[in-house]
Amino acid sequence: MTSGCDERAWLGEVVVQEMTESDLDEVLTIERQSFPSVWSRASYERELRNRNSYYLTARHQGALVGYFGMWIVLGEAHITTLAVHPSYRRRGLGGRLLDHVIDLARRHSAARVTLEVREQNHAAIAMYRKFGFEPKGVLPAYYGDTRENGVVMLKELSSEGQAGDSH
Ligand SMILES: CC(C)(COP(=O)(O)OP(=O)(O)OC[C@H]1O[C@@H](n2cnc3c(N)ncnc32)[C@H](O)[C@@H]1OP(=O)(O)O)[C@@H](O)C(=O)NCCC(=O)NCCS
Repeated sequence: MTSGCDERAWLGEVVVQEMTESDLDEVLTIERQSFPSVWSRASYERELRNRNSYYLTARHQGALVGYFGMWIVLGEAHITTLAVHPSYRRRGLGGRLLDHVIDLARRHSAARVTLEVREQNHAAIAMYRKFGFEPKGVLPAYYGDTRENGVVMLKELSSEGQAGDSH
């Protein structure tokens, strides 16, 4: 029987790097498999030119398997998107990307990280909770496509130790 550690050994082969326009075909493929309403290529191109934006990809054996985007403005970090290829879910990659989010936010001296998530997105909410994000409010009918409520989640960075946050 394999242990949980062995099952996650593949994460050691994952390469995380800045997203570029040449990644967008693969990003958009995962995007369509992950969200009810997808961002366009033009939206991503705009985001990649935004000097307050940080967009990173994760590749495994050459294939793009996940990505996230974040803004850092006035000492606040905000996750704009985060997704994992459906075939790679429940294997620790979402958490690994979130580690990068938190690390990047800390390195830019952000005091907290925020995000909005669909109320019915139980997988994402469970992941964020596991990493210390707390629900702070509900945005009624925030998502125009389904009129679903948005949950605002927040993780404070300033008042805690740097170690032992995640797992
Ligand atoms: C949410 C998402 C990024 C999670 O990625 P992932 O690689 O599967 O996450 P991990 O394997 O690292 O899981 C981390 C934790 O999240 C929680 N989690 C993840 N998927 C879950 C699910 N389907 N049900 C319940 N909890 C889940 C668990 O607490 C898990 O920890 P565990 O494995 O120790 O139980 C992925 O499901 C996804 O891409 N969804 C579509 C896009 C999306 O909803 N993005 C979030 C937008 S705000």
